[in-house]
Amino acid sequence: GTQMSAEVLQQLYQNDMQQHLSPEMQQMQWQQMQMQQMQMQGQGQEAEHEGYEGYSQAQAQGGEYRPEEEDEPQGEPRYTPRFYYLLEKRQRLPAWMARQEFLKLMQSNQVLVLVGEPGSGKTTQLPQILLDAGYHVQMGQVRAICCAQPSPLATLSASLRICEELEVQLGTFVGHVTRFEDRTSGDTLLRFLTDEALLRESLEDPLLERYSVIILDEVHQRTCETDLLMGILKMVMQRRPELKLLLLSSSMDVKKVQDYFEGGAPLLQVPNRTYSVEVFHCQDSEKDYLKAAVRTVAQIHTTEPEGDILVFLPLEEEIDLACQLLRKESVHMMNFGELQVRALYIGLPILETQRAFEQTAQLKMGGKPCRKVVVASNVAETSLAVDGIIYVIDAGLVKQRAYNPRTRMEVNLVMPVSKTSALQRTSLAGRARPGKCFRLYPEQANGDWHEKVHPEIMRSNLTTVVLMLKRLGFDDVVHFDFVDPPSPEALMRALESLNHLGCIDDNGNITEVGNQACRLPLDPQIAKMLIEAPRHRCSNEALSIAAMLCSLPVWLRPNDAFRAANEAKARFAHMDGDHLTLLNVFHAYKQQIQDGHDPSRFCAENFISIRAMRHAEVARDHLKRIMESIGLQMISTDFQDKEYYPNIRRCLVSGFFMQIACLESEKRGAYSMLREGQEVLLHPSTSLGHKPEWIVFHELALSSKLFIKTGTQIKPEWLLDVAPRGYFDPQKISEKSSARSKLERLSARRQDG
Ligand code: CDP
Ligand code: MG
Repeated sequence: GTQMSAEVLQQLYQNDMQQHLSPEMQQMQWQQMQMQQMQMQGQGQEAEHEGYEGYSQAQAQGGEYRPEEEDEPQGEPRYTPRFYYLLEKRQRLPAWMARQEFLKLMQSNQVLVLVGEPGSGKTTQLPQILLDAGYHVQMGQVRAICCAQPSPLATLSASLRICEELEVQLGTFVGHVTRFEDRTSGDTLLRFLTDEALLRESLEDPLLERYSVIILDEVHQRTCETDLLMGILKMVMQRRPELKLLLLSSSMDVKKVQDYFEGGAPLLQVPNRTYSVEVFHCQDSEKDYLKAAVRTVAQIHTTEPEGDILVFLPLEEEIDLACQLLRKESVHMMNFGELQVRALYIGLPILETQRAFEQTAQLKMGGKPCRKVVVASNVAETSLAVDGIIYVIDAGLVKQRAYNPRTRMEVNLVMPVSKTSALQRTSLAGRARPGKCFRLYPEQANGDWHEKVHPEIMRSNLTTVVLMLKRLGFDDVVHFDFVDPPSPEALMRALESLNHLGCIDDNGNITEVGNQACRLPLDPQIAKMLIEAPRHRCSNEALSIAAMLCSLPVWLRPNDAFRAANEAKARFAHMDGDHLTLLNVFHAYKQQIQDGHDPSRFCAENFISIRAMRHAEVARDHLKRIMESIGLQMISTDFQDKEYYPNIRRCLVSGFFMQIACLESEKRGAYSMLREGQEVLLHPSTSLGHKPEWIVFHELALSSKLFIKTGTQIKPEWLLDVAPRGYFDPQKISEKSSARSKLERLSARRQDG
């Protein structure tokens, strides 16, 4: 087998490698060995003994581990030439260069903050360096090293890359865990997790005893999950003085994070190797930045010397569209060399993502010059650094979550980037040689940059965060030690919502439902829907809908086949609403597989994203196992039964009763949100054939107006039956909403009857 342990790796570095290395590298290796020895001495006899214990334990547990000589015939190379090629590249990365100082600081501190520009080897090299230094052995036990990433894409990419660098099989020695996928085994020493997955592990194992070192990556992004993890780990470290915490950042903006930890966490900056970047601005603000971006790419391709281009656009749809336009355009520019167009954003399949990293040299065909253009979301800003970029084109915008606790609305907005982000994007053009950055906005706009990244926790719906804290036993969430405390109002809103959902009781204690909801890696409202599903006799159907809701966008909208795509969608439309349409699609897809047909053909013919369907399938299997393990029965109503669909719709309300809208004006198609009174419209993409009086919806989207996305028709009686007592008391409904009088009449009629 290809299974390896750190010991094998160490041996490899010290012996096997010598003949392949330059004298400088041999010198470096020697220094490393010295370092390791010094470190061992520093840890003292006991540590050494513990190390030995751990080693034999690993052998006993691993089973498959055997010393090299017994396994391999003498003289046969264990690794391909690519291994050595990559190794040499890795050793030239700034993170590798800083390893001595890094290990010294790791040893003498419990928390360390390390800053290095994107691509300096933080994510891929530091976990391996820690492993080589023996950090997986702690207190006589073999523990794992965790590296937590903000996005599933970064998680996957890092774990695949390390498997490639070490030539090991994914899921053995190195593996990853994301929301619906676990590619690890009991022997996995390097565990790449999404922040969310690490949080969920901490719910089951509050002291995270499986780990000796926890690395939080991209902390400068200050996502909700990162902030919550820092808060939790700060406490865990008091109980586990041997646990080490390493915080990685691609930006110097980490003072606040350093100060958050006891005595201030030390900072190590790995050397930068950035060249100068010339910055150009547009004269006027570009209304159509997408076209401007495409135009600028063409201009660079036809007038500038060779070098790859990176374009930043805020939305996934825009990225796809820009790629389409560029591919068309490139045909007319062939005499300037081939233009290879790549997209890069979260939600792309991993293989497609990898293509963005292919080097131009590998792309060249028949010796013709070739230029790569990567059109990316802000994931390319720091998380996934593409090498060899000389030109950056920046629309200066980013998609961000925004939450208003007063109206309880969470929407995604396109906003100007922060100053830090703008500079970060610019610097990406100077990693290989002096480069150029084209900003698609006028220079005066620089004055409007907000200085700092506004932490996500201050602009998010905190229902999940608060539920996790409750589960971890932090009763007083308002006084939880956050790096940046969210507004008390947002916290109160979250507590209120959790109380309505029955996840916490009136005293603020977590309930049985709350505990069940914590086991499901879903937003508490969807979790509640699944928990209630057996009662409504639609577990299987609710599960399929939940899986579809947390998958990727299902409908493809190719620009040149708009009509055909709409017609295809209409074939699946359920007139009672979008949730049921999603269910139809899922059933049709499964039927194809059952009948032995190729589902990819079915998807292509119907303009359905096969990625979304596969994702939903995986999610569904995963969620089903959890449902069964927490004792939720898988019950369905017979399809012929006339209650089949009503049961499902009632079940939707049992989770999403806080997201109900009532029709105000048939003519304008205007609805009002029940409690808040806010006006919303039906999104044109809906499959609802008419404008029902009452709707339960999944989400809101803000463009020119506020739109309901994914809505299904319901009956108002259900609101009184399914929602918690008192939630729909007429006096709690906004005066602006006609729902108030309607519900008043309804409950009066009920009392009479
Ligand atoms: O985390 P950081 O941004 O500091 O760098 P990294 O992700 O560890 O990447 C270090 C180097 O590995 C990059 O410069 C890339 O050349 C290479 N890499 C790659 O080729 N493909 C990947 N999927 C990830 C990294
Ligand atoms: Mg990284």
